[in-house]
Amino acid sequence: MKVLVIVAHPNLSISRGNRQRVIELEKIQAVTIHQLYQEYPHWTINVEKEQQLLLKHDRIVLQFPFYWYSCPPLLKKWFDDVLTYGWAYGKDGDKLKGKEFIVAITSGGAKDAYRAGAYDWFTIDEYLKPIQATITRCQGTFLPSYTLYGIDDLTNAEIRKDAQEYGKYIIATHRHVSII
Ligand SMILES: Cc1cc2nc3c(=O)[nH]c(=O)nc-3n(C[C@H](O)[C@H](O)[C@H](O)COP(=O)(O)O)c2cc1C
Repeated sequence: MKVLVIVAHPNLSISRGNRQRVIELEKIQAVTIHQLYQEYPHWTINVEKEQQLLLKHDRIVLQFPFYWYSCPPLLKKWFDDVLTYGWAYGKDGDKLKGKEFIVAITSGGAKDAYRAGAYDWFTIDEYLKPIQATITRCQGTFLPSYTLYGIDDLTNAEIRKDAQEYGKYIIATHRHVSII
């Protein structure tokens, strides 16, 4: 299985979680790392190139820090530009059919804050519903997301451990239940 990891971090040089995850991914042969902010500093996305990359991989991981309960803006632009009518959805738009998707997040908020009545009100999976619907609209399979919570309180050793477990998670076989 070929895995494409699309990393959307605006400044990896000041990152702890996502940078460590990338370091771990570099050790895995089946993984292609694609850093959106490095690839497109001026935000002009090469749609043809992105679509070809997607076609060459079986599983696509969307890796990003959680920003305002969502993804960083270049990844949103990537969805808007790359997932075109007639290619990803709509008439004859079936190029992502059967591909697996995993959303991999790091968050400032703690795990017990992401629930009803707590500091962040909703679960991460609830916040991810627009992405889940987008993937499902494109006939992709939305696998369980993978979150590292409360990053500011973690030691470097804990962040390294997360990155190692993350590396295993994204190449593992996952059972899933379709919502359609
Ligand atoms: C602009 C901005 C918005 C953020 N919004 C959230 C948020 O909505 N929820 C949250 O838990 N953390 C939020 N954070 C914290 C980041 O998720 C956290 O710093 C990041 O996951 C750390 O990952 P890194 O070490 O790879 O940079 C935000 C941080 C920034 C800079």
